[in-house]
Amino acid sequence: MQGKFWFLATLVLGTCAFFAAQPLHAQCKVIWVLKVPCLKVEEALVNQIQQWTTSAGCVTEGEKCQYELISANHTQIIAKHTTALDRNVDIMHFYLKSDILNLNCRLVGISASQNLERVHDNGTNYCNIYNLVDGSGLTSVPEFKEISNDWMCTQRSIANCTLV
Ligand SMILES: *[C@@H]1O[C@H](CO)[C@@H](O)[C@H](O)[C@H]1NC(C)=O
Ligand SMILES: *[C@@H]1O[C@H](CO)[C@@H](O)[C@H](O)[C@H]1NC(C)=O
Ligand SMILES: *[C@@H]1O[C@H](CO)[C@@H](O)[C@H](O)[C@H]1NC(C)=O
Repeated sequence: MQGKFWFLATLVLGTCAFFAAQPLHAQCKVIWVLKVPCLKVEEALVNQIQQWTTSAGCVTEGEKCQYELISANHTQIIAKHTTALDRNVDIMHFYLKSDILNLNCRLVGISASQNLERVHDNGTNYCNIYNLVDGSGLTSVPEFKEISNDWMCTQRSIANCTLV
């Protein structure tokens, strides 16, 4: 029942974002509802960021490289990503909120280009946060739910996260 509530609540939020204006510069906000305690989510994301700090993966793994952990605690994770090709810097914030029984975690990921003149990003800001959630295995938890669209994320529909 808790899970249903969270899903409905995020659906409403997602729909509001849908009617809001498109982002002015390249950025992305995604909402995930995960049937995993937030502590596990925090651990998974922090580990993944730390595994992808080097430039090594940039050659073979698209943008799964050059992440940098800025800070992390039980409610918020802040990280930085530098794109391989044009060295564009994006800052990411993850907000974690547990349900009352600590069974589900509502995760909001936000990524924004530091360069305010960057309007198009081929979905890179979406991939910045999606790749961490996917790489850390969170996309395969049961009843995985994600809310994202082109209004919440610049060029979401053309994003190819294996590539960008
Ligand atoms: C978690 O980190 C954020 C960002 O650094 C900070 O604003 C917030 O106060 C911290 N929360 C706790 C409970 O330490
Ligand atoms: C998006 O992709 C196209 C085609 O690969 C490329 O020409 C363009 O420079 C890219 N734009 C950005 C902002 O990365
Ligand atoms: C993304 O790009 C890779 C590498 O070019 C390609 O193999 C894959 O089919 C693309 N995926 C989608 C969904 O377009």
